[in-house]
Amino acid sequence: MAETPVSVRIAGTGRSVPEKILTNADLEKIVDTSDEWITARSGIKRRHIAEPGTPLSELATDAGRKALAEANVEPEELDLILVGTVTGDFKFPSTATFIQAKLGARNAASLDISAACSGWIYGLHVVKSIIKAGEANKVLLVGGEILTSMTDWTDRSTCVLFGDAAGAAVLRREEGGTGGVLSTYIASNGELTHLLYGPGGGSAHPATDRTLSPDMFTVKMAGREVFKHAVVCMEEAAQEALRRANLQPEDIDVFIPHQANIRIIEAIAKRFKFPSEKIYINIQEYGNTSAASIPLAIDEAREKGIVRPGHKVLCSAFGGGFTWASTVIEF
Ligand code: ACO
Repeated sequence: MAETPVSVRIAGTGRSVPEKILTNADLEKIVDTSDEWITARSGIKRRHIAEPGTPLSELATDAGRKALAEANVEPEELDLILVGTVTGDFKFPSTATFIQAKLGARNAASLDISAACSGWIYGLHVVKSIIKAGEANKVLLVGGEILTSMTDWTDRSTCVLFGDAAGAAVLRREEGGTGGVLSTYIASNGELTHLLYGPGGGSAHPATDRTLSPDMFTVKMAGREVFKHAVVCMEEAAQEALRRANLQPEDIDVFIPHQANIRIIEAIAKRFKFPSEKIYINIQEYGNTSAASIPLAIDEAREKGIVRPGHKVLCSAFGGGFTWASTVIEF
């Protein structure tokens, strides 16, 4: 007897961004930079930043509540909370456990994934597999970062790029349904960790009097090298998600790339011949919010009516590790 097909659908989305805004003009007062340079080289105009000491679970829970409300799902109905982040509340326990408590999702297991900017799509890959295997019916998937907690405000090559945010989606199992998550793809290359990393606080460099210099706890990035890999890997990932969904670029209604640099986005869009109206870009408002970037953009694009029911959306991301990942979702 043929198995009933199972689809994994996005039942609701939400986002949370801090109110405080840091503009390029503000950054001109902190480091030797200019609005002109930041805009031309990255596409960023401003970013939202959390007050120092804000736990990620605060933004993540807010985004999660909004996603649950839209999905009409009670916190107790959740089987799993999964969070993609590299800036969780504590080293342990997982940030997902803090969100579980704040939401009162007492029946949910809690899990964090560390895949930098690819974290939300990595999470989607795992959630899709768990739901399809029959191990969960309703899952809250969050991507969130307080990247300003590991920003070196004296390094102009990185501090102009990052912002704080959380984005969330409720994923639901539907028997016999079609659409939803059509494909996911995840990949990594651990030989290039040295190009983008945050060294301090782990077992290699625990926080001791000897290692407790701010330099150990901030993002280190070889921007130009990362840029080249990001273009190649995000393109490969997008291609692979299309192949796995058995689709062509022209079947895609909206392309939502990871928002790290406008020039990376434009290079990939050109390869796929996506017209500008099919590409969702909000980097000018938020900068690079790492694991939050894709779910934040999805939620905003849905709210604006750019992503509508029936639309096929292609997402592609790249981040520290290196990791890269992609998905096609039918809404
Ligand atoms: N203002 C003014 N000048 C600057 C600034 C600044 N903020 N930053 C660097 N410069 C200078 C450099 O010193 C350099 O000067 P020089 O030529 O005299 O040496 C010049 O500008 C060019 O520097 P590049 O690093 O070559 O600039 P580039 O065009 O590569 O842009 C950027 C830098 C924006 C960082 C780009 O390389 C980039 O976006 N890289 C990829 C980032 C990314 O995708 N990260 C992945 C995800 S992040 C994560 O996982 C957390």
